[in-house]
Amino acid sequence: MRTICLIPGDGIGREVIPAARRLLEATGLDLAFTEAEAGWATFERHGTSVPDATLEAVKAADATLAGAFTSPSRKVPGHNGAIRFMRKKLDLYANLRPSVSHPVPGTVPGLDMLMVRENTEGLYVEQERRYGDIAIADAVVTKRASERIARVALEQARRRRKRLAVVHKANVLPLTSGLFLETVLEVAKEYPDVETYDIIVDAAAMKLVRDPEAFDVLVATNLFGDILSDLMAGLTGGLGIAPSANVGEKYAIFEPVHGSAPDIAGRGVANPTATFLTVAMLLDHLDEQETARRVEAAVDAVLERGPLTPDLGGEATTETFTDAVIAAL
Ligand code: NAI
Ligand code: MG
Repeated sequence: MRTICLIPGDGIGREVIPAARRLLEATGLDLAFTEAEAGWATFERHGTSVPDATLEAVKAADATLAGAFTSPSRKVPGHNGAIRFMRKKLDLYANLRPSVSHPVPGTVPGLDMLMVRENTEGLYVEQERRYGDIAIADAVVTKRASERIARVALEQARRRRKRLAVVHKANVLPLTSGLFLETVLEVAKEYPDVETYDIIVDAAAMKLVRDPEAFDVLVATNLFGDILSDLMAGLTGGLGIAPSANVGEKYAIFEPVHGSAPDIAGRGVANPTATFLTVAMLLDHLDEQETARRVEAAVDAVLERGPLTPDLGGEATTETFTDAVIAAL
C-alpha cells in the first residue's frame, strides 16, 4: 500500500483535490490518504503558511498532491508563500511542466512540450529589501543548482525528441543568466545525443506563440520558467488543463499549474482536469504507468465528448465532470 498526502490549500484547491481523491479511489490501486494543511487560510489561523506537521506528512508519504495556495500581492510580515516554502525546504529543485495538446477548444493541435523549471533560486525566492522609494531583489544563480536542473532536463530530452532549448537572458545579465547558460551547455556535452541550443527569453516567448511545434524540452531559471509555462498552458487549453510536478532527490509534490482562482472559488465550477493530469504524473512517479495512461485516456475521452467546465465553454460542474471521468475510467 502507498500513502498519498493531500494538501487542498486555498480557493479552488479545496474543490479540485477532493475530486482528485475520488478519481484516485476509483483507480482500484491500494492507496491510503493523509490530509495536511498549508496556505493563506493556514497562515491566518496559525501564523505560518506551512506548519511543521505538514512538512512531516509530506516526508512520510510516498507522494503528495497539492491544490493551490493564495499569496497576497503585497508584503505581509511573517508570511512565506506556501508552495515556494515547501519547494525550498524539501529541496524540490525540479519543476516539470508538460504542455500537451488535448482535445479541447482553443488548443493548438499536436503539441508536446516540457518546461523544466529551476525551482529553488533565481528571481523568485522572496529575497527582497526596500529602502523608502527604492526596492531591491536578489537574483541568485548557482552552478550547483544550474547543473542539477540541466541533468534533469537532458535526461528528459533523451527520453523524448532529444531537443533542449536553454532559455536565458545572458545578453543583459551575463553573470547570473550567463552562469546558468554556461553551466547547462557544459553539462550538455555529456549528452551528445541531445541537440542543445540556447534561446533568449523574449525571443522564446514569441517563438512559442508563432512556432510551438519547434519545441521539445525547455530549461529555464525560476521566474522565466514560471512565466513561459503559463504561456505554454495557454497554447494547450489553458490553466484548467496544465499539470506539474515538483521533484527532488527524496520528496515530490504534484500540483496543477494554476492558482487558487479567487474569481471562481466556492462555486463548484473549477476544472479539475489540471489536477487529474497531475494525478497521472503522480502515478508515473509511483511506477503505476498503466493506471496513469488510463487516467489520461479517461480525461481525454471526456474532454472530447463533454461535458466541459465553463473555462472550456461548457456548463459542467467540478462534480459532474469528475463523475464523467470516473465513468470513463
Ligand atoms: P489563477 O491560476 O488562480 O487564475 C488565473 C485565471 O485562470 C482565473 O481567471 C481563474 O479563474 C482561471 N483558472 C485557473 N485555474 C482554473 C481551473 N482549474 N478551472 C477554471 N479556471 C481556472 O492565477 P491568479 O488569479 O493570478 O492568482 C490567484 C491566486 O493564486 C494568487 O493568490 C496567487 O498567488 C495564487 N497562485 C498560486 C499558485 C500555486 O499555488 N502554485 C500558482 C499561481 C497563483
Ligand atoms: Mg505561475
